[in-house]
Amino acid sequence: MNADQLQNLRLQAGKSESIAKLFAADSSRSEKFTLDACGIHADFSRQLISSELLDALLATVADVRIGAKFAAMFAGDVINTTENRRVLHTAMRAEPSANEWAAQAAVQRERATAFAESVRSRSDIDAVINIGIGGSDLGPAMATRALRPFHDGPIVRFVSNIDAADLDAALEGLDPARTLFIVSSKTFTTLETMHNAERVRAWVSASGTDWTTRCAAATAHPKEALAWGIPADKIFEFSGGVGGRYSLSSVIGLPVMIAIGTENFNELLRGMREMDLHALNASPAMNLPVMHALTWFTNAVLLQLPTVAVVPYSHDLSRVPAFLQQLVMESNGKGVGIDGEELVHGTSPVVWGEPGTNGQHAFFQMLHQGTQVVPVEFVSTVEPLGNDVVAHDLLIANLIAQAEALASGSTTEDTQRRFPGNRPNTVLLLERLDPYSLGALVAMYEHSTAVQGWLMGVNSFDQFGVELGKSMAQIAANAIEKGEADTAQTMTHPLMEWFLRRRQNKS
Ligand code: F6P
Repeated sequence: MNADQLQNLRLQAGKSESIAKLFAADSSRSEKFTLDACGIHADFSRQLISSELLDALLATVADVRIGAKFAAMFAGDVINTTENRRVLHTAMRAEPSANEWAAQAAVQRERATAFAESVRSRSDIDAVINIGIGGSDLGPAMATRALRPFHDGPIVRFVSNIDAADLDAALEGLDPARTLFIVSSKTFTTLETMHNAERVRAWVSASGTDWTTRCAAATAHPKEALAWGIPADKIFEFSGGVGGRYSLSSVIGLPVMIAIGTENFNELLRGMREMDLHALNASPAMNLPVMHALTWFTNAVLLQLPTVAVVPYSHDLSRVPAFLQQLVMESNGKGVGIDGEELVHGTSPVVWGEPGTNGQHAFFQMLHQGTQVVPVEFVSTVEPLGNDVVAHDLLIANLIAQAEALASGSTTEDTQRRFPGNRPNTVLLLERLDPYSLGALVAMYEHSTAVQGWLMGVNSFDQFGVELGKSMAQIAANAIEKGEADTAQTMTHPLMEWFLRRRQNKS
């Protein structure tokens, strides 16, 4: 998108005075701004987007050639140009006949699901612990939590943090002889994962159990996994063209396969695949990921609202905000475009959130009356989980009430009790929280993130921004090991020296 297009869109966005006026001006607004796809009902009508702005946004979608970009991604073109890579997450769930990467993924998936089924039927395994971080943790952990009612396999826990407390808590009450560990790491070099993997290997071996019978790996680097000590028949491989945060549908989903079984996992993939085809084929105005991306783009880039609250009114979706933090912020949190030029407009919003109704009793005060406008995304389901229908009706009543109150506000002479309203929000309602719908939701978010990135002109598939911290952590770790602060770390040198002195005094 060039500067003139951005200027034009900002001008249009500036004309959308208030959500109330947009409703008053167009009796068909609800209909126009509501979309149904793959079991997801999306209501975008309370966004600050007029029909004129929507037309301008759709014209930009055409100018930026979003359709061609989707086609190139699905065809396996090298669209991650800064890393000279294909972007292959859609091949992980495509029909095996779709392309060579889909065929390879199907082979690995069959190996992984066969392994998962064998674990599910083993009487000598009580629990499975996934050791991984970032994309090798957040997607599978979010999905396992979301699909709790479908969980009929062994206990599945997730350990990600280098902080020993995380692993300590996960191991509590477990028997090393009856626990299986999955080392999930695309690179098989990540500091946190490799440290925790070493620790559990020692824990299992110390119990007299043969480690090689209690481990598996999901990785894009099978040679490294083999060299580290995972037997070849328990290494499940995925392509380097699958970004960590986009990897749930690859063999990184192994813990989910073990938790819910092959049939349910295949349903998750079916939901993703159907959303993929919808994203690829639906016209922009009827395309759920595209329309969703336009709302997030409008809020973050045009209206310059720096954050977005994602509030699941479904307790089992409680890890969705954390999953989206990586997906959106690691993908689009960039200051330089894919062409290497510095960007003059905003990019990724800060994504945050907690489930409702809990959030109502915590941060909603600020959402209603704070000076900073925070767009809100409500996510829930039509059907209740379990038998407490009254609870679900109350949950949805609260969701709808909050969506209304945020947008319409309330006027009174008493300024303390006044609600300004005009706070944009979207409601996404899944038919029910099942593997198919969750798959569709995840793929919708993946594609929306990519569309936002294409509109912003960034590469949503690299993540150079995490490298500096990683290399500096190595320098700091060496300093702690040597007991000597590194002079290169000038701004933290006194802090490191203080820490080393304190540590010496204690030891
Ligand atoms: O945080 C950076 C990152 O590279 C993420 O992109 C990735 O999901 C995570 O680390 C874990 O990496 P790996 O799967 O290679 O251990």
